[in-house]
Amino acid sequence: MTQNPDKHLLIVFHSQSGHTEQLIDAANRGACSAEIEHVDVRKLVAKNANPEDLLWADGLILGTAENFGYMSGGMKDFLDRTFYAVEGMIQSLPYALIVSADNDGSGAVSSVQRIALGYPFVAIHEPLVVVGEIDDKALDSAHDVGMLLAAGLEAGVF
Ligand SMILES: Cc1cc2nc3c(=O)[nH]c(=O)nc-3n(C[C@H](O)[C@H](O)[C@H](O)COP(=O)(O)O)c2cc1C
Repeated sequence: MTQNPDKHLLIVFHSQSGHTEQLIDAANRGACSAEIEHVDVRKLVAKNANPEDLLWADGLILGTAENFGYMSGGMKDFLDRTFYAVEGMIQSLPYALIVSADNDGSGAVSSVQRIALGYPFVAIHEPLVVVGEIDDKALDSAHDVGMLLAAGLEAGVF
């Protein structure tokens, strides 16, 4: 029997003080769960992620803080650098968004969502917005986001 090729999950994040990174690490652990065998995961800091990474990906997780009511500058830079480079080459990339914020998060969500329409990235899930402390519940939720996306890719749901 022919084995389907592995699916590719790209995780791109920017984190200044490590909050988003904690959530992304949990999502990464979820995506790399032992029961998911045929998904390759590539986790990159936003400044190191390039158009080629997006073209490699079958699914995407974006992680950003909310800074000044918007996505973080590092995430914006990634989107600025890749948007035109991949224009017309992405049909519809399933994605999930993880946001860390002190008191809101909605500006980061809406700014990413607006730009995601253009690529297009298609949300598989409501954005995970963690306001305040990164506690076990938040880490579990992020873990589940990673697992859901990876399992869905493996199963051909997305
Ligand atoms: C320059 C700056 C601007 C920020 N603006 C907001 C904001 O508009 N809304 C909010 O809820 N939190 C805001 N925060 C708080 C961060 O979103 C929050 O501390 C987040 O957990 C940082 O994540 P990180 O460590 O991954 O960068 C801001 C933080 C910084 C440094």
